[in-house]
Amino acid sequence: MTPNNTADQAAQRAAELRAQLEDANYRYYVLDDPTLADADYDRLLRELEALEAAHPALASADSPTQRVGSVPSGQFAQVRHAVPMLSLGNAFSDEEVADFVRRIEERLDRESPEFSVEPKLDGLAISLRYEHGAFVQGATRGDGATGEDVTANLRTVKAIPMKLRGGDWPALLEVRGEVYMPLAAFKAYNEKAIAEGGKVLANPRNGAAGSLRQLDPRVTAQRPLAFYAYAVGVVAEDYALPASHSATLKRLREWGFPVSAESGVVAGTDGLLGYYRQMGAKRDSLPFDIDGVVYKLDDYAGQREMGFVSRAPRWAIAHKFPAQEQTTVLEGIDIQIGRTGAATPVARLKPVQVAGVVVTNATLHNADQIARLDVRIGDTVIVRRAGDVIPEVARVVPEYRAPDAPQWRMPERCPVCGSEILREEDGVVWRCSGGLTCAAQRKQAVGHFASRRAMDIEGLGDRYIEDLSDLGYVQSVADLYKLELDDLLEMKRRADERDGTTPETVKAGKVATKWAENLIEAIDRSRDTTLERFLFALGIQHVGESTAKALSAWLGDLALIRRLPWPVFKRLPDVGGEVARALGHFFDQPGNQQVIDDLLARGVRAGEAHPPSAKLRDGLNLATLLVDMEIPKVTKIRADQLAAAFGDAQKLLDAPEHAYVTAGLPAESAQALASWLSVDENAQLLTRVGEALARLDALTPAASAAPAAGGPLDGKTAVLTGGLDAMSRDEAKERLEKLGAKVSGSVSKKTGFVVAGSDAGSKLAKAQELGVEVWDEAKLLAFLAEHE
Ligand code: IVH
Repeated sequence: MTPNNTADQAAQRAAELRAQLEDANYRYYVLDDPTLADADYDRLLRELEALEAAHPALASADSPTQRVGSVPSGQFAQVRHAVPMLSLGNAFSDEEVADFVRRIEERLDRESPEFSVEPKLDGLAISLRYEHGAFVQGATRGDGATGEDVTANLRTVKAIPMKLRGGDWPALLEVRGEVYMPLAAFKAYNEKAIAEGGKVLANPRNGAAGSLRQLDPRVTAQRPLAFYAYAVGVVAEDYALPASHSATLKRLREWGFPVSAESGVVAGTDGLLGYYRQMGAKRDSLPFDIDGVVYKLDDYAGQREMGFVSRAPRWAIAHKFPAQEQTTVLEGIDIQIGRTGAATPVARLKPVQVAGVVVTNATLHNADQIARLDVRIGDTVIVRRAGDVIPEVARVVPEYRAPDAPQWRMPERCPVCGSEILREEDGVVWRCSGGLTCAAQRKQAVGHFASRRAMDIEGLGDRYIEDLSDLGYVQSVADLYKLELDDLLEMKRRADERDGTTPETVKAGKVATKWAENLIEAIDRSRDTTLERFLFALGIQHVGESTAKALSAWLGDLALIRRLPWPVFKRLPDVGGEVARALGHFFDQPGNQQVIDDLLARGVRAGEAHPPSAKLRDGLNLATLLVDMEIPKVTKIRADQLAAAFGDAQKLLDAPEHAYVTAGLPAESAQALASWLSVDENAQLLTRVGEALARLDALTPAASAAPAAGGPLDGKTAVLTGGLDAMSRDEAKERLEKLGAKVSGSVSKKTGFVVAGSDAGSKLAKAQELGVEVWDEAKLLAFLAEHE
């Protein structure tokens, strides 16, 4: 092979790779329909990098490899905008929008003209210059006449095409649009910054602006920026753009520019206001921040006739949403105690309107957040409502701080019960140590217990819970089942006396007892429940509905579950170490066992018990549990050796250290095990693990009776991807497993079939690439219906 030949081949391959990578970007950013998995994208990119390194002649500024950022430039050059980058006038009310439309109707002598309508994202306006279809220069808006050359940074924004698609583009084209930071990227960036002790971004807009103005493009490349196009600047003279703005946007999209999927065309004031309301309703669920919508007269002839006033066009206007941020004064910091005792600081604010709602409280998240913001009582603060989340204190205006304002510190005692507030090991969460002696925790535990998805006691609202608890009728959830009609009536009478309200019994005779009868009836009805609701209702830390469901499905029996040591819980699918330990800890508390005993004694029935799953039992043995117990230096291999040599937990406990070595353990592991077992608590745990194994053995039917054996999916591996409407992925997994399938997390040639729900991404692509069978949700449901 001649050198020329290889060089030609390399050039050809490089062109191929660049086309593939740009196509992947286009599908991802413009069509919102990715087909290439991240890993495959990276692989192709690395191949291209290697080729370019080996053949320097192949390097080119618009290669996808340049999107990782080139070396710092020192400072930004100035760019004069040939067509100035204008700003927009604002409308804040329906009347102002109607006036805007009326001015156009009068001047153009037209009725109900058509407008292109678009979201107004809060980012940074930029201009992108393309010559012969290639990106050559990008600039910020600057003062509208002159901006800064941020070409190198814009190359790192993957949503910006480096080469135009198709062929019918003008030789010179300048496209304008907004660079922004999607909310998910903003949140992820800040979470990472917090974890690493770095500086957080104040809002997505600052995120976008700060990132683009980085002198080091490699830093920009680390920031997940996005872009959408909303206008055209200079165009080659010999090129005729379409006659309307909306048609131009469509063409931009064909050339490879992302255009907002939320844009459209409407007519007249009513059309505009309808769009405004529609976007307002959608605002909180969009993946990016918008601060309003933009209306642009759609036809260019009309735009030319309307012209400009100072620096804004008369044919376009921004209709702003009410501000999401406001300034107010922090009057105090209260401590709220959660159901599990977590102490959350809450800002008490001088009431202020934010986005149409009066805000008096805002979350401060935790003590660390307060330290980070350095908020002090009396400070002027900026509160923000973003999405449908609770308002939060975004930042402080330090200029207005009193010079002697002291730093804030977490109080030492719980404001509700006076117990000590202690800092948890992770250092972030502070917790009231009062447990169920703390009225705040107790009331919330009762509220959770009675809630619809737990025991579902209809009519037991927060007010009754407050009174029942404050007046001493209900100290624990089990007390609910002791209540009698007379207790409720007496409680009500005392509460009325306390509040100085006229007793309803006097006012309305019999009607006033109806609520009490209803409540007693609802409490009675709740006695018959399922194991899964019962477990969820107990309010065990980290145990939500899905964990409760898994416990019930796999273990089947409250009498068993409440005696299991924590390592056994770790064997359940989707239960990790933290959840397993929380479960074990809960059942280790005599007080909790007492509550369960009381509930059962008072007639609560936690479903029909069934034997534990044989499948679970299969995976449960001394070796797996030894690994789950996280004994230092006892790895899977060592655990297997120990299990093989000793057979059961008691024998292992009775054996001397040298017997571990005889079993095959290196001296180091043997020593680590011996010292671990010398701690009483650990030896007890191992004893309990042994007992649990014996108990499970006695309860579990022989493996041959397992439902999985002989299933229609025996030996098949399934992969689930995307969301399903009819059930959770966990449920689908469980049901497929019951039919014999093995459910795996990644697609390979050996995969039997892939179930692709909505928004299925790279796994679906991989399946298609490998020719693996793909099921949609309908097919899955049909199959389950037939075989279950
Ligand atoms: S059009 C001549 N369309 O809003 C019209 N601007 O206040 C020029 N913006 O600087 C702008 N989304 O940063 C237009 N769909 C959109 C927009 C939009 C956001 C920003 C842009 C501009 C500012 C004007």
